[in-house]
Amino acid sequence: MNQPAIFTPELKKRADQICANYPVKRAAALPVMRLVQETYGSISEDAELEIADYFQIPPMGVRELMTFYTLFYSKPKGKCHLQICRTLSCALRGAEELIRDMEEKLGIECGRTTEDGQFSLDHVECLGACEKAPAGQINQEYAGPLTKEKLFEIIKQYDVSKA
Ligand code: FES
Repeated sequence: MNQPAIFTPELKKRADQICANYPVKRAAALPVMRLVQETYGSISEDAELEIADYFQIPPMGVRELMTFYTLFYSKPKGKCHLQICRTLSCALRGAEELIRDMEEKLGIECGRTTEDGQFSLDHVECLGACEKAPAGQINQEYAGPLTKEKLFEIIKQYDVSKA
């Protein structure tokens, strides 16, 4: 690989510090990917290649982690990232309907970001917060039980034009 653009000396130093906490370097793949995403807002294809290079694993290894874990994404998310769980407990308590309500309110399909970059809407699998079903995550915060009204209120806080 030529000159790495993602792993700057500073980022590499931080990644090395993370890896030092694990007996095997590649066991630190998830936290290092998280570091890359926090630094750049997403993990681009170039970043995937550099991560693979850093861990000396095939690029497909990183791709598999990207597709398995919904917490990683290849394009930056909106300022307000709404993630709604649609696994059994949440599905039984109306998650699919909530997702449809949010699609209508935001004018986007699930999995998309509004044109102004304010909102992203995604469904996720069980967040381990089933007792709060229907549960979700607003940026880094768990939320639930969610209702249409609570979500509208959150949207209003981020963007009064959608109130
Ligand atoms: S099923 Fe939704 S949080 Fe577990």
